[in-house]
Amino acid sequence: MALLKIARMGNPVLFQRCEPVPDPGAPEIRRLVADMTETMEDAPGVGLAAPQVHVPLRLFVFRIPGERGSDDPEDLPVGNSVLINPEVTLLSDDRVLRWEGCLSIPGLRAAVPRAPRVRYRGVDCDGRVTERTVSGFHAGVIQHEHDHLDGILYTMRLTDFRLFGFAEDLARAARPDGKGPG
Ligand code: NI
Repeated sequence: MALLKIARMGNPVLFQRCEPVPDPGAPEIRRLVADMTETMEDAPGVGLAAPQVHVPLRLFVFRIPGERGSDDPEDLPVGNSVLINPEVTLLSDDRVLRWEGCLSIPGLRAAVPRAPRVRYRGVDCDGRVTERTVSGFHAGVIQHEHDHLDGILYTMRLTDFRLFGFAEDLARAARPDGKGPG
């Protein structure tokens, strides 16, 4: 396995609509998924989409840590996972603001409007289908990663630029004494 170089905002590969993966079981796809998983863990991050490692194909890896303390049963923790050729359906017209960052936009965070609940479906390299309805943080991660496959970065979804900034400054501002980190 190998760590992959992550494309940063400004790289055209991040702004294109990705193509479906013709053969999820192909050796080069298995290698890509393994390398993307290692790269995500090393970063560390909770999601990484193929265009972020310069491969314009419809797949992403993600993980939903269990130690966040969410008591929502649909905010399901999962270990390292892959979704190839995913389909994502937003289950509400409502939007909630969720704090997000992106490995392609290091150091910055923003509150992004997201659907509170989604259904998703995709396959892994062995053709096993994952189909779930999820909420909360899990739903936010899926929407963020799926957006990458359509060339959309979270910054393109912002509605309130007062809630966009450098992570260290946002943490400082969140502390009552203003001296952060919050
Ligand atoms: Ni991202």
